Amino acid sequence: MASAFFKLDCRVYMVKCSYEQKPFRREVMRTYGASVTPSPSMSTAIGKKINAEHPGTTGSLGCAISEAVEAAVTHEGYRYVLGSVLSQVLLHQSIIGLETQTALRQLGVKPDVIIGCAGGGSNLGGLISPFMGEVLRGEAQYRFIAAEPASCPSFTRGRYAYDFCDTGRVCPLQKMYTLGADFIPSASHAGGLRYHGMSATLSELYAQGLMEAVALKQTDVFEAAQFFARTEGILPAPESSHAIRATIDEALKCKAEGRTETIVFGLTGTGYFDMTAYQSFNDGTMSDFVPSDEDLAASFAKLPAIPA
Ligand SMILES: Cc1ncc(COP(=O)(O)O)c(C=O)c1O
Repeated sequence: MASAFFKLDCRVYMVKCSYEQKPFRREVMRTYGASVTPSPSMSTAIGKKINAEHPGTTGSLGCAISEAVEAAVTHEGYRYVLGSVLSQVLLHQSIIGLETQTALRQLGVKPDVIIGCAGGGSNLGGLISPFMGEVLRGEAQYRFIAAEPASCPSFTRGRYAYDFCDTGRVCPLQKMYTLGADFIPSASHAGGLRYHGMSATLSELYAQGLMEAVALKQTDVFEAAQFFARTEGILPAPESSHAIRATIDEALKCKAEGRTETIVFGLTGTGYFDMTAYQSFNDGTMSDFVPSDEDLAASFAKLPAIPA
């Protein structure tokens, strides 16, 4: 994940861990003209503060957001853009859901379950929005499932509370499922989706019981990615592979219970830029990290004291 601010050129603050784990994504951005800085960096005041408070940290999207915002507001003519979490990004990505809805109608297929991976929630929000509209208007029933990493389990283990969208606490508060703005996922996590919070829109739908969520370990996710690649000939992004894992699990449940269901999932990206992560899975060196309740409690203790 990355966070950026623009002028005629584009400067990107890329989560340090992704900068190192995903060198080809970094190089694609540089090829198109962006300058890419690993975050937290020493080029902003907030980056220096985060580095001082968390020596050797591998960063998080929350840190990259703080740095990009600071850089944008201190450089004349620049604007900050965020690629996930906020409602306008979900609105933009609703094109995915509208196209899916149209394609399914043309094929005469009605899904039972719709599954998407969830980092900040934009692709999932975009995919489900037209279908959720049908549910809210009482026109149809679907199950919606968010597939998130067990190493960054915002929905399944987070608090529904007001929190900062960024680690430097320069952005406005948002009511959302959150692990705390200080939460930094383990560097051993290679599957993306490293945001501490979740879209406010999806958070409200989850709080109302209109959506479900599952947390998945990365070795199980890469096993599903490998199976999908060998079966379909498509190499999926690690992020998308969370949705693939959840879809396989749902299909296996149906099989065990003798039911048939139509399951739709979002395939959000290619895995060709993520071969370092695939390499560690293929070599058997990939490990799983699940934060303990104590880890999360320490992070929740720093949530702003605002009644939810
Ligand atoms: C390929 C891919 N899919 C999905 C995501 C998840 O983001 P979001 O939850 O905002 O859709 C990312 C985030 O960087 C990504 O790179």
